[in-house]
Amino acid sequence: MEIVTVVRPDAESASQVVADRFITLVKANPRATLGLATGGTPVETYRLLVEAYQAGTVNFEDVQTFNLDEYIGLAADHPQSFRYFMQQQFFDHVNVDPKRTHVPNGVADNVDSTCAEYEALIRDGGGIDLQLLGIGHNGHIAFNEPGSLLESRTRMVSLTDETIENNARFFDSREEVPRHAITMGIQTILEAREIILLALGEAKSEAVDKLLYGPVTDAHPASALQNHKRVTVVLDAVCASGIKQLADSL
Ligand code: GLP
Repeated sequence: MEIVTVVRPDAESASQVVADRFITLVKANPRATLGLATGGTPVETYRLLVEAYQAGTVNFEDVQTFNLDEYIGLAADHPQSFRYFMQQQFFDHVNVDPKRTHVPNGVADNVDSTCAEYEALIRDGGGIDLQLLGIGHNGHIAFNEPGSLLESRTRMVSLTDETIENNARFFDSREEVPRHAITMGIQTILEAREIILLALGEAKSEAVDKLLYGPVTDAHPASALQNHKRVTVVLDAVCASGIKQLADSL
């Protein structure tokens, strides 16, 4: 199945495309299961979803959510944890049921069992209807770094120096960035019924180019999306202009 690529003039209009897809899905299926992502890219999307909820356009009370990943060693109340990010950016501002929002536990006593439990929660919850993804500069999705097996499941991973560097901006220093995380695996992500990936800015052009036009390889985990039947990649014009096969049609 061909990946659908959507290009919009700027970050806000690209984020609006993603927000609109979530709104349409939840209005059609109020008990939808949403796969959510963190990082700088989805911030505007969550702002637009909060705005739609406050305008009475969408109701999140019956949805269920699963986040892609969490740093190991950061508790839910740590300002740089992904749970904290999600509460600040989205959950605290809409009527989602807190008991139905799931983020991997970064301070679990037994990481392996918490990973297995997370997989079971997703499976027993009926699977993910729509998974939001960003993409790392090195082509990672969630925290599946280059070399992650395409059949991988939720597990503990070591973060690459590049990822630590890129995420250091959210911490007081590079030393404070955790070196390990729990992440949904690539196979876990591919089992979502629909995937929408948002990439903004020229720094992501190369990673998206390889995702769209490169070989499917564990060296570039995002390329695994070529094996999925329903993927939409949403870009702003700056990101698309750095991709030769798209720049010509801009
Ligand atoms: C982190 C997250 C990914 C995210 C990536 C890009 O590694 N685990 O889910 O897609 O960073 O983040 P940003 O959107 O800040 O560029």
